[in-house]
Amino acid sequence: MISSLLRLGFNPSQLAKFLKKEFSKQARRSNNRTLNSELIFLMKAILCKSYGPPSNLVLEDIPSLSPKKGEVVVAVKSCALNFPDTLIIQGLYQFKPPLPFSPGSDIAGVVKEVGEGVTHLKVGDEVLGLVPHGGFAEEVLAPADWVFPKPEGMSFVNAAAFMMAYGTSYHALKDRANMQKGETLLVLGASGGIGLTAVELGKLMGANVIAAASTEEKLQLCREYGADMTINYREEDLKQRIRDLTDGKGADVIIDPVGGHYTEAALRSTARGGRLLVIGFTAGEIPKIPLNLPLLKSCSIVGVFWGDFVRKNPEANRANAKQLLQWYFTQKIRPHIHATYPLEEVPKALEEMMDRKVRGKVVIEV
Ligand SMILES: NC(=O)c1ccc[n+]([C@@H]2O[C@H](COP(=O)([O-])OP(=O)(O)OC[C@H]3O[C@@H](n4cnc5c(N)ncnc54)[C@H](OP(=O)(O)O)[C@@H]3O)[C@@H](O)[C@H]2O)c1
Repeated sequence: MISSLLRLGFNPSQLAKFLKKEFSKQARRSNNRTLNSELIFLMKAILCKSYGPPSNLVLEDIPSLSPKKGEVVVAVKSCALNFPDTLIIQGLYQFKPPLPFSPGSDIAGVVKEVGEGVTHLKVGDEVLGLVPHGGFAEEVLAPADWVFPKPEGMSFVNAAAFMMAYGTSYHALKDRANMQKGETLLVLGASGGIGLTAVELGKLMGANVIAAASTEEKLQLCREYGADMTINYREEDLKQRIRDLTDGKGADVIIDPVGGHYTEAALRSTARGGRLLVIGFTAGEIPKIPLNLPLLKSCSIVGVFWGDFVRKNPEANRANAKQLLQWYFTQKIRPHIHATYPLEEVPKALEEMMDRKVRGKVVIEV
């Protein structure tokens, strides 16, 4: 019946809305709890019902979603993990969605319904994009401006793994550090989601890359992604090794997604005119830096907030995304997929991330 109506020229989005309304009415009238879940439009979602560790998360059936003006509903195919997912479920992130909510921000899927005023997307489009939360579910509500057509030939897994990690690292190196060819780039937490993309992009942009991470296995992956030199900061003195590897000059640009005691050690080995890029604090501690250090070294501590850049500079962000996708299609960059898991294994995947067991990206396939 649906295909006949489409052939008669019915708009797919309006048709979906009409059918949804009619089926919901029928379901309410019949009050039959054994109804097929498709009829009453339920979907599966990982839910955070109270702040706590990943083991608190539950998989439940919840009502399907409807878009408001300027929004789209995406049927999620893949959603990548990012460290903020581990914070948001503990109530430790910079914003706290009302409970219950689903975590997950880096999504790829198929547009299921479009809200009023959305013109650049239609039902059936394959897309990738960002959402504030809600990606670990069969459906997610997304601001239409944050969702882009998925390039043909890119898998849903790679699409989900792409935007946040590459977007943040590229914005940091290009827009915030103005990194130049021939400069030395030090990457902390270099085998993580942000770290590995920074190693890869740093090399592509012409830097000499030093990767710092906690195990030889992680450092080996960084070498495969272009690192020229490596530091095992669990076993070696970070400050001294940076000096040794740079003939005493220090690193010109430092990408720091880790924080803790590593930040000050790295800053003490920054070159004159260097830039330390503050990305995040996976070590759990926000470092407090003596301000005489940037004075003595004529260096800068530079904040990076990619989400804010996406919101406030959409055109510049689109240009960055275009460049990154071009590099993907010419095989200059490729996300490293550590593992994929089904929706019910989100808690296990988040635990692995918190235990520092992940290299590159973990992606949930829905
Ligand atoms: N500023 C922004 O715009 C922006 C955007 C996206 C993400 N972020 C932030 O960037 C950071 C990295 O995110 P990500 O998704 O790349 O994380 P990730 O994949 O988990 O990588 C983080 C790395 O941090 C290191 N680490 C050190 N101590 C750790 C600890 N106690 N627990 C976990 N990891 C630890 C690990 O490497 P070793 O084991 O080698 O030390 C790990 O590979 C997060 O703080 C996130 O909030 C910021």
